[in-house]
Amino acid sequence: MNPVIMPAMPAKYNDQATVLRKLVSEKKDILPLGDKITGVRSIAILSGKGGVGKSNVAVNLALALADKGLDIALLDADLGLANIDILFGVMPKFNLGHVIRGEKELSEVVCKVGERLSIIPGGVGLRNLAELDEQGQAWMMDRLSSLEEDTDLLIIDASAGIHKNVLSFAMSSDMVMLITTPEPTAIRDSYGVLKSLYQAAKGAISIGLLVNMASDEKEAFLVAERIISASEQFLSFKVPYLGCVLWDSEIRESVKKRKPLLLNEAESASFPYFRALAQKIYESSEEGQLSKKLARRDTFLLRLLRQAENREKR
Ligand SMILES: Nc1ncnc2c1ncn2[C@@H]1O[C@H](COP(=O)(O)OP(=O)(O)OP(=O)(O)O)[C@@H](O)[C@H]1O
Ligand SMILES: [Mg+2]
Repeated sequence: MNPVIMPAMPAKYNDQATVLRKLVSEKKDILPLGDKITGVRSIAILSGKGGVGKSNVAVNLALALADKGLDIALLDADLGLANIDILFGVMPKFNLGHVIRGEKELSEVVCKVGERLSIIPGGVGLRNLAELDEQGQAWMMDRLSSLEEDTDLLIIDASAGIHKNVLSFAMSSDMVMLITTPEPTAIRDSYGVLKSLYQAAKGAISIGLLVNMASDEKEAFLVAERIISASEQFLSFKVPYLGCVLWDSEIRESVKKRKPLLLNEAESASFPYFRALAQKIYESSEEGQLSKKLARRDTFLLRLLRQAENREKR
């Protein structure tokens, strides 16, 4: 596919590409692409099969983490059916497409949905972002860099399956949360994604498994065990189990009401599961010391940029 070059790129576009390339090459302390990183600052949420609950988990996990005092940005990176805005009952006017076309600043696209939670609608713009040439990506990274400076943790809600853009998001994140349900099709597809990711990253990737819509914890554990033992047997890698969220009709209701479950006054059965998941992620940050004030070794966006560079060189 030909790279998309957006017509309205400002003239300084080339300079910014050069500056960013320099920035990346000067960052000698940046870990090699895909290296395991202990402090989690970006999490890409993936699945094999669609409809397993990625967006709902992303939203409620983001709320649970914001509740713990972290500043969270939730990037709607589903290139097919972006819908984080619908789940929050908001109608953002602009998306990343406007930023890419140079029509809006990132600050005008970021939609604050809570004191410590912002969503960034990807829209069709993100499809273009993924197809931008090297200079276009660099220009975009420059515009997006403030995002990670203002955020403790970036959560990326990706499309289902392992399209090359999803792979880029996954490889650029500190951690991948792979979601499956107990359905055999979802289990098989999630193993497929796990295998593709693991092989693409040559093993140097941090992946955790979450089972959603299980009828009870035992079922969730048995589902996880099937994937864990397959990964051990065929990939010689033991994928960590992050936990589960049980089937909860309240989640369906929350979607209909366009109000995320964790914003309900009354607790429902899923609350403790989202809190436990948030706690696990919190602990995956640098011993719970996650703070934007700490120096960053590397960021999601810098890695995404480097991926674009590597693609160009091939
Ligand atoms: N734990 C749960 N219990 C019951 N229903 C759930 C649960 N989690 C998600 N759902 C429902 O499953 C449906 C799909 O959820 P969601 O949109 O979050 O999945 P997705 O993986 O993001 O889908 P897509 O691949 O299309 O982006 C929604 O109707 C949602 O209400
Ligand atoms: Mg979704």
